[in-house]
Amino acid sequence: MNNFTSIHDVTDLSALLQTAQDIKELPFAHEQMGRQQSMCLLFFNASLRTRLSTQQAAFRIGLHTVVFDINAGGWNLEFEDGTVMKGDKAEHVKEAAAVIGAYFDIIGIRTFAGLKDREEDYAERVIEQFVRYSGKPVINLESPTRHPLQSFTDLITIEEYKQVEKPKVVLSWAPHPRALPQAVANSFVEWMKQTDYNLVITHPPGYELAKQFTEGVPVVYKQMEAFADADFIYTKNWSAYDDYGKILQEDSDWMVTQEKMKLTNNARFMHCLPIRRNVIVEDAVLDSDRSIVIPQAANRMVAAQAVLQTILQSTFDREL
Ligand code: CP
Repeated sequence: MNNFTSIHDVTDLSALLQTAQDIKELPFAHEQMGRQQSMCLLFFNASLRTRLSTQQAAFRIGLHTVVFDINAGGWNLEFEDGTVMKGDKAEHVKEAAAVIGAYFDIIGIRTFAGLKDREEDYAERVIEQFVRYSGKPVINLESPTRHPLQSFTDLITIEEYKQVEKPKVVLSWAPHPRALPQAVANSFVEWMKQTDYNLVITHPPGYELAKQFTEGVPVVYKQMEAFADADFIYTKNWSAYDDYGKILQEDSDWMVTQEKMKLTNNARFMHCLPIRRNVIVEDAVLDSDRSIVIPQAANRMVAAQAVLQTILQSTFDREL
């Protein structure tokens, strides 16, 4: 695996999952693996879990890490080709990516969707240009269309908690006061489609995700119907894809409540966090013993470590 920008970079998902499971048992088994190697985590946007869990994962394999909040101390980057750079953008990605690639062995990038121009967001040009110009493995720490480290974490967590071979997993839209990207939902669907789980998506009409992600996955517009017999409820807000970046309605009726959870097969409640209490989900659900959001978040370290180990191993193999 050279990069980790989406599930399409994963050459052997079973092996990656096995690596994660091995890490859970022996987190420091490869504590020398990242020796004399370094990683830059480049953040264009805020983060708690991604920022901390990826650094902790690196620590457990001896990989030196530098975190760079590029909007707070870096130059404003230009991504267009052939631009006359007379505006507020002082450095082109061609130089910035190449320089960071000269300093570090692995680069992680968080760059959210702007939610104004769908074509621009879905072109993924920040990740794509860092892959092209840095010459080093790139890890997606959440980009406009995907959050693969989160989705891999979600897969690890469902494998850990499932009670039946093929659980019913429901991705349920939830209300939110601000327009949020589709990245977590897109990516979750993309990863779940690699399993034989019974995946169902539920959202109000108008919140259809891009077909490239949801093709073949049933969409149920009645949330209560979707919840019936579910083993996992994975809740997430996203803004509209068709009417791009818009909040169509607040629809607090879609909040996950204890009453709705009673329709499920005693389901586990999941969310990537951060979560707005009593907007996305009732306190009673989040504080219940069915909520696994904390072990889910803890698994972010495991997912990141498995990805780092796999990338480092691929690099060693290529250099042999
Ligand atoms: N789930 C997640 O990516 O959390 P952060 O935005 O805090 O990193």
